[in-house]
Amino acid sequence: MSSPSHNPAFTIFDLTGRTALVTGASSGIGRHFALTLAAAGAEVVVTARRVDRLHALVAEIHASGGKAHAMALDVTQRTAIQTCLDAAIQTCGSLDIIVNNAGISDTKNVLKYNDDDWDAILDTNLKGAWMMTQEAAQRMLTFDRGGSIINVSSILARRVTGGVGPYSAAKAGLSHLTRSMALELARYAIRVNAIAPGYIVTELNEEFLGSAAGDQLKSRIPSRSFGEAASLDGALLLLASDAGRYMTGAEIVVDGGHLCSSL
Ligand code: NAI
Repeated sequence: MSSPSHNPAFTIFDLTGRTALVTGASSGIGRHFALTLAAAGAEVVVTARRVDRLHALVAEIHASGGKAHAMALDVTQRTAIQTCLDAAIQTCGSLDIIVNNAGISDTKNVLKYNDDDWDAILDTNLKGAWMMTQEAAQRMLTFDRGGSIINVSSILARRVTGGVGPYSAAKAGLSHLTRSMALELARYAIRVNAIAPGYIVTELNEEFLGSAAGDQLKSRIPSRSFGEAASLDGALLLLASDAGRYMTGAEIVVDGGHLCSSL
């Protein structure tokens, strides 16, 4: 399979022999990340609430010569996380990389959100990553070979915009949790880092980002462009592989310069 790891210049990014689990892999960035990790040599466990949506992804990875398994997982349920991790370890024999990608958002005025909205957004984006990291780290300890946890945060962890109060709070919590967990897990060689994407075109937002309002938004990004899922591959592979072995508690911003702008 065509892979950066086949080029000697990229051997430090090689993930052969590693097992990676990606949450929310049925669409968008998570789906793309699963393909990238598999192309770099990892055996990938792709997870989502609706496992039927993952079969095409697994088939695509197999067709390219990679290894993948589909498993059901709702990240808001601790018992589901435990069951999924145990099944992943049973199937693959190890657990090295976790990508906490699952996330949901909503857009409405801060006065219109109710407690159920808040709970759903915080439970998925923040508590889900908390529970997954805790459960995964406990299992990584038993293998005594460290690990890499990668949290998908957002530039909205650092700046605000209208309509996404609970989401921004959840991502700010996730970014700070990344540093707290990095501090305490470093002694076990378990690294915890985050990627903070700017606006990345996926199926869910491509209609808005392609609209006149999207054009206005683009004009406020210094690069005058949106990212695509592949724009995050460099950060993903750096954090997942030995190339990032001295990195923990870091957050890599990939946003076309958006955070540099006050607009
Ligand atoms: P997406 O909606 O395509 O992906 C989110 C995935 O999470 C979906 O597959 C969804 O089914 C899954 N998910 C939601 N709740 C879940 C749950 N309880 N258990 C398991 N899976 C669940 O959207 P996208 O854009 O690919 O987002 C992926 C991550 O990237 C999210 O955490 C999002 O907040 C983050 N992000 C996305 C940006 C963008 O512009 N697309 C920008 C910054 C961050």
